[in-house]
Amino acid sequence: MKKQSICCIGAGYVGGPTMAVIALKCPDINVTVVDNNPSKIKAWNGDINKLPVYEPGLKEVVNKVRNKNLFFSNDVNKAIIDSEMIFLAVNTPTKSYGEGKGMAADLTFIENCSKQIAEVATSNKIVVEKSTLPVRTAEKIKDILSANSNNKVKFEVISNPEFLAEGTAIEDLFKSDRVLIGSDQTKSGRLAANSLIEIYKKWIPRDKILTTNVWSSELTKLASNAMLAQRISSINSLSALCEKTGADIEEVANAVGHDRRIGKEFLRSSVGFGGSCFQKDILNLVYLSRHYGLNEVAEFWHQVIRINDYQKSRFTKKIIDELNGTIKSKKIGVLGWAFKKDTNDSRESASIYVTNGLLDEGAKVYIYDPKVSSERIKRDLMNLWEIKNYSEKEIKSKLSNIKIVKDSEVCFQESSCIAILTEWDEFKRYNWKSLAKKMQKQHLIIDGRNILDPKKMKKLTNKFCSIGR
Ligand code: NAD
Ligand code: UGA
Repeated sequence: MKKQSICCIGAGYVGGPTMAVIALKCPDINVTVVDNNPSKIKAWNGDINKLPVYEPGLKEVVNKVRNKNLFFSNDVNKAIIDSEMIFLAVNTPTKSYGEGKGMAADLTFIENCSKQIAEVATSNKIVVEKSTLPVRTAEKIKDILSANSNNKVKFEVISNPEFLAEGTAIEDLFKSDRVLIGSDQTKSGRLAANSLIEIYKKWIPRDKILTTNVWSSELTKLASNAMLAQRISSINSLSALCEKTGADIEEVANAVGHDRRIGKEFLRSSVGFGGSCFQKDILNLVYLSRHYGLNEVAEFWHQVIRINDYQKSRFTKKIIDELNGTIKSKKIGVLGWAFKKDTNDSRESASIYVTNGLLDEGAKVYIYDPKVSSERIKRDLMNLWEIKNYSEKEIKSKLSNIKIVKDSEVCFQESSCIAILTEWDEFKRYNWKSLAKKMQKQHLIIDGRNILDPKKMKKLTNKFCSIGR
């Protein structure tokens, strides 16, 4: 019997790990991951220690299945022709132009893929929305597919949003809380959903595979991210109140989280959430709500983003205040660039905004991260400066004030401040006593992730601050 073939367009943080796990769990299926970025595919096929995505456990999975039943390729057309099921895991960033700029999801990549599928397919296909999309995108995809193909080929579009979190992607994929599949409530829609259920059933208990209509599935993804981010903004807003009143946010979060109805997860106060999705998906939800005339709903969710921005700027301001109101020419070490530990992803990381705020005040910023490359760090800052329309002269001067280092000790030498912006485990293991001695006599250590014990740190260092305490 011919082996079943599926493919995924988009070899990024979702496409790569998700397909690697499907290939591992379904040895009887050929899985091809395609991307139009040749260097990314080269990296997926190259040195196992330099895969484009860093995730604990990922290289072990890829190592087991690569070139057996998992393939990475640039040949998008061939993958479309050969596959019965095509996952779309391309990026859906916030629109940076035109109608909906800064709010709506940019669906250009989804549209391009849909058009390509329609033009190339010679047999019936199930198209699976894996990317996070606004409600009713499946309708648009269907329109594109039917407008651009010959009528002999039939397409079924189903929604299967991804809920993995970076840093724990492999664990999350192995033991998903739930898998969600949304399909049309027609015979062919249910058949398409069933083919996907057959894949997940290989390792996910059947009662964790939920089926809904397409629109519920699309909206559930935005709703889940919005509700997770909302918890962080809730606890972060309370952290500001703690700092004014003498309450301790860690004690408050712990006591609040003991209520089973509230739960302990996602109550970690921080310098602010980052990552490629929370902000973009909430903005998308706000845009959709406004589109349907639901302004109160839009305002409610928009506040989650506003509190997150407030938390990042509050943190930057605290550094300046604690250093006598001026940081001009002072050396500040930033520990951690990734938006969370155990990933090399830094999209929308709080560190970008905090660092920019410090540079605006004339500081010299030394940056260390164990996984994010120095090219990526520079690119993140340049992207922000381009959005802010900074002149070439300003950019040059800002670049001259940053140094990206491979040895974190360099950040400490003669510095006025060390700011922890990612909760990397290695920071907890540092010998803070001896490192603090390398800093200026009058210095500040500020923990934006509450990973260090304040009682111990206050004994070891000149001045120690954290969040909400
Ligand atoms: P990514 O940027 O890491 O990867 C997307 C890939 O798609 C890129 O490599 C890009 O080159 C490729 N691509 C774009 N257009 C293409 C085309 N026409 N043909 C071939 N390749 C094309 O993005 P990501 O983080 O993997 O996210 C993908 C989607 O999944 C987004 O909608 C995101 O919201 C959603 N999502 C992401 C996460 C996450 O943790 N990153 C989790 C759940 C859902
Ligand atoms: C998040 C969701 O958790 C995933 O379910 C979802 O699939 C994904 O977005 C997506 O759609 O992209 P991710 O952004 O990878 O996953 O990571 P999270 O663990 O959610 O962390 C997001 C940000 O919030 C990080 O900056 C993290 O440090 C911060 N955070 C998280 C807190 O500040 N406090 C917390 O209690 C939890």
